[in-house]
Amino acid sequence: MGDLTMDAHRAIHERRTIHSYRPGPLDDGVLERALDAGHQAPCHKLTFPWRFVVCGPRTREALANIAVSIKSAGRTLPSEKITQIQNKILDPAELVVVTQIRSDDEFRSREDYAACSCAIQNMSLSLTADGVGSKWSTGGLTRDRASYDVLGIDRDLEEIIGFIWVGLPAETPAVKRPTLDSVVRRTD
Ligand SMILES: Cc1cc2nc3c(=O)[nH]c(=O)nc-3n(C[C@H](O)[C@H](O)[C@H](O)COP(=O)(O)O)c2cc1C
Repeated sequence: MGDLTMDAHRAIHERRTIHSYRPGPLDDGVLERALDAGHQAPCHKLTFPWRFVVCGPRTREALANIAVSIKSAGRTLPSEKITQIQNKILDPAELVVVTQIRSDDEFRSREDYAACSCAIQNMSLSLTADGVGSKWSTGGLTRDRASYDVLGIDRDLEEIIGFIWVGLPAETPAVKRPTLDSVVRRTD
C-alpha cells in the first residue's frame, strides 16, 4: 500500500511517466481511487466528457496482438521480438483506456480535451500517492481502428485520447526540466 498521507505537492513532484513495469497486481482500492480522482476533474459546462474503459485480460491479449501486427507491418518478426512487444502491453498491472465524447463544436472539443487531460493527470497523481506508476500513451495502438473494435468503442461517438498503463514501476526515470524562471514571466 502506498503512502495515503502523501500531500498533493509531493505527489505532483514525484509523479513520473513509467516506461517499464514489474509484474504484480495493485492493492485493493488503488485503481478505484484513481478512477474516482479522474472523475473529480473540472469540465466547462459540466459536460463530463471522459469515459474510462478498464481492460480485462482477453482485451489486453487482443491489443497485444494488434501491437504486434502494427510493429511487424507485414514482415515476420523473430519470436523474441514478438514476446517483447506483447509483454510491453501485458506487464503493467492494469490498462485504462480514456476516451472523450465527441462534439461537433470545435471549441467544445478543445475544452473537453482539456478536461479529459485534467482527469488523466488526477488519475496519475492518485496513483503516485498510492506508490503506483503510470504512463499516458498515445502511440499507434491507441489510434488503430482495430483497437476501437476490440474495446467496443464507437469511433463516431468517442475518441480514444490515451491508454493509461498502470502498475508497479520497474524503474523511475529522472526528467530534466527547464528552470521555473525560464517558463515564468511577471508583468508590472
Ligand atoms: C498527451 C500526452 C501523450 C503522451 N504520449 C506518450 C507516448 O505515447 N509514449 C510515451 O512514452 N510517453 C508519452 N507521454 C508521456 C511523456 O513522454 C512524459 O510526460 C514526458 O516524457 C515527461 O515525463 P514525466 O511525465 O515523467 O514528467 C505522453 C504525455 C502526454 C501529456
